[in-house]
Parts: sequence; C-alpha cells; structure tokens
Amino acid sequence: MTYLLIKSLHLLFVMAWIAAVFYLPRILVNLSESAGKPEVQERLLLMGRRLYRFGHNMFGIAFVFGVALWQGWRLFPAALPNIVGSMHWLDAKLAVVAILLAYFIGCGRLLKRVPAGIPLPSSRALRWFNELPVLLVLGVIYLALAKPF
Ligand code: HEM
Repeated sequence: MTYLLIKSLHLLFVMAWIAAVFYLPRILVNLSESAGKPEVQERLLLMGRRLYRFGHNMFGIAFVFGVALWQGWRLFPAALPNIVGSMHWLDAKLAVVAILLAYFIGCGRLLKRVPAGIPLPSSRALRWFNELPVLLVLGVIYLALAKPF
C-alpha cells in the first residue's frame, strides 16, 4: 500500500513536470512568431517564466518520490521493496531523465534571450526541437515499465 501510494505520487509529479517540458517549447515557438509585438511577448514571457519555475518544482518533488521508491527500503525494509536490486534499468532511465532536465534548462536559457534582445531560433527549428522530449519520455516510460536489464 505504502509503496503504491509513493509510486502514485511519483507519477503525479512526473506528469506535471512533463507537461511543463512539453509546453515550454510551444511558448518559445509563439515568442519566435510574435517578434515585434511587445504586449504579446510580455504576456508569453510571463507565462514562460511561471511555467519554468513550476516545472522545476514539480521535477524536484517527482525526484524525491523516485528516490524514495529506489532507496526507501534501506530505511523501511519491512514496508518498501528493493525494487531495483542489481538491475540497471534505473541507471539508463536516470541518464535519459538527465537529458530531459538538460533540455528543460536549455528552454529556460532560450526564454532568457528574449528580454536580452537576442533573437530566438526560427519557429520551424523550434517546432522540431519541440518533438525531441516526446521520444525521450517514451524511452523513460518503457525503461520504467519493462525493466529490460
Ligand atoms: C527524476 C528521477 C526519477 C527517479 C529516481 C525515478 C525512480 C523510479 C522508481 C525507483 C520507480 C519504481 C519502479 C517500480 O516500482 O516498478 C519508478 C517508477 C516509475 N517511474 Fe520513475 N523515476 C524518475 C523519474 C521518472 C520520469 C521523468 C518518468 C517519466 C517520464 C518516470 C516514470 C515512471 C513510471 C511510468 C514508473 C512506474 C513503473 C512501474 O510501475 O512498473 N519516472 N520511478
């Protein structure tokens, strides 16, 4: 029961983080297409900054629950299973999660370009950039469910 409750909380905050990872590049696309419209850009920038902060908070909480699933058995051996044991799926999963986090931080850096007057990449390039996390998230979910190695 406890383990499944922690896993449910892990997935809830993972979903919230991934929603921010999927949506922030869309805001960048809109910023790139609204160059020269200061009032539109101001609104998009405000939305982007709030989403970026929200995303980091959700990641932090998802990470804490993930570590509880991973290492909680050391503190509560009777209540929590050693789910990973000697397997390596979590190593691969965390490597892909690290790339996703770097991608999100990269989006935050692009967002900071606008007020600095540095032009964003074209909206076409940003639309392709926006597709990358979909493949990464699919990889993480498969590793977490299939635990192939
Ligand atoms: C941030 C670092 C993360 C850590 C340390 C972590 C760790 C874990 C652990 C130990 C489990 C338990 C596996 C099980 O009970 O079978 C788990 C489950 C899961 N995690 Fe994560 N996770 C992290 C991030 C993510 C992310 C970013 C995603 C999705 C994009 C994700 C998706 C899942 C899924 C779908 C499960 C359920 C697997 C199952 O029930 O078989 N996790 N996670």
